[in-house]
Amino acid sequence: MRVLHVAAELFPLVKTGGLADVLGALPQALVGAGAEVRLLLPGYPAVLQALQDSRVVCDLGAMFGAATVTLRLGRLAPTGVDSYVVDAPLLFARQGNPYLDSGGAEWPDNLQRFALLGWVGAHLGSAELDAAWSPHIVHAHDWHAALACAYLAAQVATPARSVFTVHNLAYQGLFDARDFALLGLPARFMDSSALEFHGQLSCMKAGLVFAHRVTTVSPSYAKEIATAAFGCGLEGVVRSRGSAVAGILNGVDPAVWNPATDPAIAQTYSAGTMRGKAQCKVALQKALGLRVDGAAPLLAVVSRLTSQKGLDLILAVLPTLLAQGVQLAVQGSGDRDLENALATVAAAHPAQVALRLGYDEAFAHAMVAGADVMLVPSRFEPCGLTQLYALRYGTVPLVRRVGGLADTVVAVGGPAAAATGFVFEAATGVALAQAVAQALAVYKTPAAWQALRRRGMQQDFSWSKAAAQYLALYQDLLTGNGAG
Ligand code: ADP
Ligand code: GLC
Repeated sequence: MRVLHVAAELFPLVKTGGLADVLGALPQALVGAGAEVRLLLPGYPAVLQALQDSRVVCDLGAMFGAATVTLRLGRLAPTGVDSYVVDAPLLFARQGNPYLDSGGAEWPDNLQRFALLGWVGAHLGSAELDAAWSPHIVHAHDWHAALACAYLAAQVATPARSVFTVHNLAYQGLFDARDFALLGLPARFMDSSALEFHGQLSCMKAGLVFAHRVTTVSPSYAKEIATAAFGCGLEGVVRSRGSAVAGILNGVDPAVWNPATDPAIAQTYSAGTMRGKAQCKVALQKALGLRVDGAAPLLAVVSRLTSQKGLDLILAVLPTLLAQGVQLAVQGSGDRDLENALATVAAAHPAQVALRLGYDEAFAHAMVAGADVMLVPSRFEPCGLTQLYALRYGTVPLVRRVGGLADTVVAVGGPAAAATGFVFEAATGVALAQAVAQALAVYKTPAAWQALRRRGMQQDFSWSKAAAQYLALYQDLLTGNGAG
């Protein structure tokens, strides 16, 4: 089976969050399960530089505001997966964040940029661009790739079936309705039953409405987005797709996240020999300027600093937590207000609170390895990867019971033989503080803490499980169960 994955991010070349991690691991897992997989990515500088043995598949000329568009095919160095790259310098030859300019504003031509990506995905799907290879399945990720599903639906003959994965419904790719003309789609697509959303053009709807199947990155998130509380106004569209929407849980790439081999941590360790983890903790305290104290419970956050992630809940109860002797280490970047609030408390309590603003992949590993507890108090969380990384590193997750967090962390307080972390319900500081108090009580009992960590490290969040489920879904589509 031939599968084309279309996406805007790929670890380690272009990454703003977990989407990149997924694209860095799922394709190889699918290859391992027997599929023939190729990627389609925008030709950002980092992607073009990493493309090896590349050749031109076709020249598409001027399109979507680009003076020249060339489709290249090669192997992407870090993963070795065969990849098509849309080389359109006027649209993609920009350094930094894939969606934003250096001032943090959306690029004004984002619709053209990601329409081009989707258009190429769809036309690879209808075998018009590469005579030597065409996919059975076009699998588009998030709004940036979603228009591929609409372009496929607009074709008279559409050999490829489409799958759309929602990694985060909150980012929808909304544009001025007048820009619909730029897409070159038939007028009927600008209808409330199609791409129109409250007078705007919604790329997310292109995936939700037109993909033959829609997946989310955890089973709980699939149910949640059918409700007003999590549906971002699209819950009706989600519900209308019925059983065409399903959740498949993300995995962890053991080549990147493995405490026994990780070159980015102070000392490697495994479930059998945890001494290295204590050294990682001391190294982290030193690196952050925290008081070096092996006994002080060290809580960590590695996250985009946005309202999704619930950092304000931590800020709300920080005085209580600090009074209990905990240390807090935060690495992240995002909303200025959150950055400033965290900087203020870090400056006021340098021995107990540390903040590293910015994006640092290697240091994220040091944080995950060195902390005792990983805090993920999200308001919503489609899957969440940091709690999975924490589990693998013997760092106990403390999470809100929502989305993928609910699906991956088993709460202390339930059946003792299954517990892997601490879970709270309400999105309030009080509920978070209660969970931290619960964690501190177990932390004070070394044998219980060890057992909890070990159980976490033994959990299997391998990508092969997810790959088997995606393959089954693709097969289902190809054998005719995929009308819709
Ligand atoms: P999301 O995709 O919503 O941001 P996930 O938990 O799925 O959340 O994935 C976040 C990914 O981004 C993880 O790989 C995490 O380690 C990484 N990450 C987040 N913030 C930073 C940061 N400041 N520096 C390095 N890595 C980060
Ligand atoms: C999104 C979600 C996150 C998920 C990631 C990868 O960014 O916010 O929960 O883990 O995508 O699927």
